[in-house]
Parts: sequence; structure tokens; C-alpha cells
Amino acid sequence: MSIAPHFQHHIFVCLNDRGPSQECCHNAGAAALFEHLRVRVKSLGLAGAGRVRVNRAGCLDRCAHGPALVIYPEGTWYQPFDTADIDRIIDEHLLGGRVVEDLRIPPDDGETPAAPTPASGAA
Ligand code: FES
Repeated sequence: MSIAPHFQHHIFVCLNDRGPSQECCHNAGAAALFEHLRVRVKSLGLAGAGRVRVNRAGCLDRCAHGPALVIYPEGTWYQPFDTADIDRIIDEHLLGGRVVEDLRIPPDDGETPAAPTPASGAA
């Protein structure tokens, strides 16, 4: 028996801020990317149960690849550098069902991703 996930795509975006001069997703511009993702998912009518949820997250333990986000249940990790990359993730992954390979954080880099712990806010 399989259980359908509550969301088709549940996206966690790391917004962790370690302070100035420290390597973290905040300092890599994650807040603006999160906002662009949240607004565009809503404007496309993708947000909601059975569809897409965008959540803020604390450190996802992929700091060297920030800004980092992960999409479940696929478990696909991305490093988007700008809003154009976010648009590609929406268009190609969420709408097209294809992994955006050139933005993907490799799964075999020796890191063990922690389970996401959503902070607050959602699309
Ligand atoms: S600060 Fe974003 S993954 Fe650690």
C-alpha cells in the first residue's frame, strides 16, 4: 500500500544566517530567491494541498552549496544562483517533471542531508 504525499512537491529553502563573512545561504542571497519562488508559485496557481508548498528552512547541512533548496518527495537538491534559475526549477522541475541537472547539488558529495525542519511561512 502506498500513501500519497500531502503535497506533490514540498520545497524547503535554507535561509540560515550565520552572520557577516560566514558561509551560509543567507549571505548567498537565499531570501530574495525564496521570495521569488514563493510569489511565482502562488501566481501560477500551484500553491496548496496536493500541489506545491514552499517553506523556509534553517540550515539543511548543504552550506557549501548555498543557496540550497530541496524538493520532496523526490529529494532533489538545487543550488539556484538567481531568479532565472528559480524560474527554470519551476518551469522544468515543477511543471515539466524534469530535473534541472546543471543546477542540481550532487547527491554523492559526502554530505548527509539532515531532515528539513520548516520554520515558518509558506506559499
Ligand atoms: S546555511 Fe544553508 S544549508 Fe547550511
